Amino acid sequence: MAQRIPQEVIDDVREKTNIVEVIGQYVQLKKSGKNYSGLCPFHEEKTPSFSVAEDKQIFHCFGCGKGGNVFTFLQEIEGISFPESVQKVAEMEQIPLQLNINPQTEVVENSDQKKLITLHEKARDLYNHMLINTAVGEAALDYLQQRGLDDSIIEEFKLGFAPNQRDFLVQISRREGFSDDIMERSGLFIRREDGSFVDRFYQRVMFPLNDFRGKTIGFSGRLLKTAEYPGEDQPKYLNSPETELFNKRVVLFNFDKARNEIRKQGEAILFEGFMDVIAAWRAGIKTGLASMGTSLTEQQMAAIERITNQVIIAYDGDSPGMAATERAITSFSNHSRINVSAVTIPEQLDPDEYLKKYGAEALQNLFQHGRQTPFVFKMNYYKKDLNLDNENDLLTYLNELMQDLAKVQSPVEQDLYLSQLADNFQLSKDSLKQQLQLARNQVRNERRQTNVQSAPQVAVQQLSQTEKAERMLIYRSMNEPMVREELIAGGFQFVHDQYQELLLYIDSYMIVHGNFILADFLNYLKDDGMKQLIVDISIIPMSQDSNEREISDLKKVIALTGLAEEIKKRQLEQLEARKTGNQQKELELTVQIIELTKRLKQA
Ligand code: GTP
Ligand code: MN
Repeated sequence: MAQRIPQEVIDDVREKTNIVEVIGQYVQLKKSGKNYSGLCPFHEEKTPSFSVAEDKQIFHCFGCGKGGNVFTFLQEIEGISFPESVQKVAEMEQIPLQLNINPQTEVVENSDQKKLITLHEKARDLYNHMLINTAVGEAALDYLQQRGLDDSIIEEFKLGFAPNQRDFLVQISRREGFSDDIMERSGLFIRREDGSFVDRFYQRVMFPLNDFRGKTIGFSGRLLKTAEYPGEDQPKYLNSPETELFNKRVVLFNFDKARNEIRKQGEAILFEGFMDVIAAWRAGIKTGLASMGTSLTEQQMAAIERITNQVIIAYDGDSPGMAATERAITSFSNHSRINVSAVTIPEQLDPDEYLKKYGAEALQNLFQHGRQTPFVFKMNYYKKDLNLDNENDLLTYLNELMQDLAKVQSPVEQDLYLSQLADNFQLSKDSLKQQLQLARNQVRNERRQTNVQSAPQVAVQQLSQTEKAERMLIYRSMNEPMVREELIAGGFQFVHDQYQELLLYIDSYMIVHGNFILADFLNYLKDDGMKQLIVDISIIPMSQDSNEREISDLKKVIALTGLAEEIKKRQLEQLEARKTGNQQKELELTVQIIELTKRLKQA
């Protein structure tokens, strides 16, 4: 059973909270009119259809249809229960909650997931303990210190060491009572043919991988080579396999710790390896992220886009790193509204090596002053395999660049680059301009084509006249007690059951609470579909107050068109029943049709 939080406490927390501030920690919100809008965190999208109404203290997405109050939002985004969401808001707003949390009642929802996370966090703490407190971990600790990682960094990232013993974690898990099933699903073990388990990670420096909430869901282990253990045919890094917790296409290393700082500074830095993220952290740069050794996925870009619109790509300075930078620039410009810039680390170093060689200040400087726009990056990058003294190569080079220059938005910037190119290669600016014009036409054509392909995808709900009227009437019942009372007293019949039900909910809520607060009413509704519906209704654009005429029109529409629709629907069913020879059904429908027709005449 879920833990009970007294209603007064819930009310108190909700009243002291501003939904805009809470959601603002997850979504970049822009004020637009009376509301705030941003990119929906619940589905992938490129144009914002997610809206937060400060006055109503609710959110709603016009794209995917999700909506609710501050608690619903946290439940959805963090995957937590209602009581947990109340606690979380209270924490955020520093409202003290005196609750007795009964650990037995805590483990209700998806307890397997919790067990898997517990196992991971136990493993993480153990590996960490082995590294910092035991002789077995000494060589690994030396290695990390050699690489410039001190105690505070080891603590911050909870680094660890998995000893060279294949049943280390097996034994611990057994002792802690984890089942075979959980052990297998965790990905932390390899199952032998005879059914027994061995540790997946051994003789490795362990980097916990966390989800966006900071819960450990996987590991990456770096091989520790020693005289006794050269580990010749072993990969340098070994990651957790894909499990129900760990999806490497989604995880971004350090996202949990960097999120707030990224939001504050308005930018994120993207690295190739997580040792680089850690190096940057040591240099005081706490906005670093890295994917798990793969190129950036759409999910990862979408996660970044929710918290910032500026990304600096700081991949390794070698040639694979440059190629990956180019790919990342292209992905960002095709899939997001993020502005990218790129930093090329000199001497083909990676950021970690650069820090080691030149120090923190040099690294900071590089990130501050070494940013190149995508176009400038490409001006350098396209050169790499070409000999620009050769006329053919030069033409290829200019051709490629013009394609990119055509996509540059600012005319001033475009002109600047044209001048630079003309200068660099002693070409006439006019002839370059002509080339640019050609490229521009080409780009425009391409765009036109892709636009056609990606026509509207947002599922606009098609509502019948009746349902529209039903929703409007509910809207009025929410906001005007008189309307509600009249409907109840007169025994008004909605056509669709869900509206009838909503009316009853609203009525019983009002009897207890006296006035209608939507954000609070949402807690009162238990069914998610109902919550969604009431949020959808609450955002219908309607005039301030109703009048008698409006209400009676709405009622009439519902009664007439609604009944007519129902009759038509049953007549079709009746025909179908007759065709298939289902006499029982046919009879039932006939009775219903007579009943409905009678009601229609009375309306
Ligand atoms: P160090 O050698 O420890 O400095 O590593 P690095 O941070 O310089 O990593 P590198 O540039 O070699 O690789 C970048 C990223 O690619 C790493 O953070 C890993 O995520 C991934 N990677 C590198 N080597 C391997 C490997 O052998 N296996 C797997 N699965 N991933 C790897
Ligand atoms: Mn490195």
